[in-house]
Amino acid sequence: MSELPAIRSLRDGAALAIRADDLDLKTELAQETARRWSERRLSLRSPLDATVPDRPGRPEKPELIPPRQVAKRALTTERGRIALMHAIAHIELNAVDLALDIVARFVTEPVPNSFFDGWMRVAFEEAKHFRMVRDRLRQMGADYGDLPAHDGLWQAAHDTRNDLTTRLAVVPLILEARGLDVTPALQAKMRDVGDHDSAAVLDVIYQDEKGHVAVGAKWFRFLCAREKRDPAKAFQALVRANFRGPLKAPFNDIARAEAGLTPSFYRSMTASVNS
Ligand SMILES: [Fe+2]
Ligand SMILES: [Fe+2]
Repeated sequence: MSELPAIRSLRDGAALAIRADDLDLKTELAQETARRWSERRLSLRSPLDATVPDRPGRPEKPELIPPRQVAKRALTTERGRIALMHAIAHIELNAVDLALDIVARFVTEPVPNSFFDGWMRVAFEEAKHFRMVRDRLRQMGADYGDLPAHDGLWQAAHDTRNDLTTRLAVVPLILEARGLDVTPALQAKMRDVGDHDSAAVLDVIYQDEKGHVAVGAKWFRFLCAREKRDPAKAFQALVRANFRGPLKAPFNDIARAEAGLTPSFYRSMTASVNS
């Protein structure tokens, strides 16, 4: 790994990490910036900060292909389990950049510093998740980059780059909440086929992701309160205007509610979005 560049501020560290195409460097920059920010060793921004890139840095591999072309394989074979963990590694990598982009792009928003505390904790944990899943892939004789991956994950960031409330509706409250819905069944399948190591990795992710949805719900409610909007109604209006396709049931109502995302937000949205 190349040496860490100088980190001039919170925004600079986040922007440098998003830019990095070396994934060891990206995850280390994300975690080091989070550490220094939490110890109050960084200012929010400085005049010399790196600019926030429109697209995150990526290695040459994996090849990025349209989502429909990503092959699905049964988890009963090791090849299938590798394909699943590879897809999860790709999601976690995008999650690192998404959390950092909330910080770097919206650093001038009038929000308390605890807003950035929350998102840097998320970025730190996403970097941890990516590394854990990558380590598991390596134990299985594979690596991130071996398989093609889907190229649509950054689209949500791009589409919501101009409005923080919309960003929070789409990224943590739709995409990350979806992770809470699907992960328990994947864990159970991994255990059924005897892959307890992969199940254990998914368990860490699942527990942390509840916290990520909670950070999203907390700040979504904060922004709505400031604008005197009803959060559930605001969520529904933003989803209709900005999200392609309906929300997919079944929902993990218990985990969602623990994170502050109550059914009043999403229950009526299952079939009516952009239809
Ligand atoms: Fe994650
Ligand atoms: Fe997350």
